[in-house]
Amino acid sequence: MNPLEQPGIPVEEQLRSWSELNVEPFDKLDVDPYTRTRVILMNGSEVESILFSHQFARNTDNLEIRQALALSRRVEAQQQKAVNGLNPGDQTPLETTIGYEQVAVDLTAWLARHEPDPMLKQALDFALLEDFDHLYRYANLYELIDGKDATALTDHLTEITPGRPTAVEHRHPHDDVRGHFETHTVDPLSRLHVMTIVGAEQQTMNFYMNHGTDWIEPIARGLYSEIALIEEQHVTHYESLLDPLDSWLKQLVFHEYNEVYLYWSMLQNESDRRIAALWELHLDMELGQLAAAGELLRKFEGIDPAELLPPELPDTPLTFEPNKDYVRAVLAEQIDLRTDGLDYVDVSELTADHRSIEYRERVNAGGVPSEMVIDMNREHSGREYRDETEGDHPVADLVATDAGSGSS
Ligand SMILES: [Fe+2]
Ligand SMILES: [Fe+2]
Ligand SMILES: [Fe+2]
Ligand SMILES: [Fe+2]
Repeated sequence: MNPLEQPGIPVEEQLRSWSELNVEPFDKLDVDPYTRTRVILMNGSEVESILFSHQFARNTDNLEIRQALALSRRVEAQQQKAVNGLNPGDQTPLETTIGYEQVAVDLTAWLARHEPDPMLKQALDFALLEDFDHLYRYANLYELIDGKDATALTDHLTEITPGRPTAVEHRHPHDDVRGHFETHTVDPLSRLHVMTIVGAEQQTMNFYMNHGTDWIEPIARGLYSEIALIEEQHVTHYESLLDPLDSWLKQLVFHEYNEVYLYWSMLQNESDRRIAALWELHLDMELGQLAAAGELLRKFEGIDPAELLPPELPDTPLTFEPNKDYVRAVLAEQIDLRTDGLDYVDVSELTADHRSIEYRERVNAGGVPSEMVIDMNREHSGREYRDETEGDHPVADLVATDAGSGSS
């Protein structure tokens, strides 16, 4: 389908009542884990739309654009409530966190598998191994402080085992800035991939920022603050891939198009009929928002949105599915990769006086929560927590000596 040929719902007709926004949550134990990840992804995408629109409004003095943004932004804020409201109140912040890292693993791996540009694929593979490690650290925290098994949430669809250890993910900020794609030559699919991962990582950063203090246990508070800083690195890493040359109005059009792509994708794969109906409604809303953004671009920049956008959505919808073999292959090949300025290098190339080594020593001085949580859970449970469904860890140094999962 060509989204530019679908009128969707006019923006003025998109406002909903409180009762429509106060949706019935899913059941946290019955829900398809990938329905939970779809909810997390689309919430993050709506949050990005809202924050982007606020920034745009602060950078234009055109009243007509500011009013149009105020209207579409109010609708985005309503969409965010309807999506995030699907999370049930008895799903604890740590359970939601395990969902966030399952998103990060299976979204990033899927995007990397389908990414046509090798530079962007490398950026995805690189951070994939880091979020993969976060899932393992949080699963150990879950067993340690709640006595529960993370596979009740992930359902063995995503393996839980060490990635690039969080303790070595800490880098000097300059080594998180990547080179960017060129807006005039980038594959339209690549633009969708990068915008999607930026929204997802930003929401993860926001969530850990706000929920890091929900615990009494110092180990939980410490782990959240440590991993929240890695998510800040990931936002820096991914947003630097975007071409800053695009005008605010063009960026608005790209945002609406990205939301169309995402809701269309979620709709193709949704197993819960009630939630599928929400994805369908929001798809029709985004089509209307895209049409309105396209009108602004035409009026104020004299550009037809068809000049910026591909004539069709991608052949394949973005899909949440297991990526175990892919993740294992990247683990085996890239666990020792680091960044140095704009480049990726082997760990052996970083000398002791490299700024990222000095940064890491500075932040890790005095104990590293992501290491302590494993030691504490070993002491508490007699072993560390893992869920390795496909055999031993593919990296020899990370093969478990004492691991086990409560359910396997
Ligand atoms: Fe939206
Ligand atoms: Fe993460
Ligand atoms: Fe991340
Ligand atoms: Fe939108």
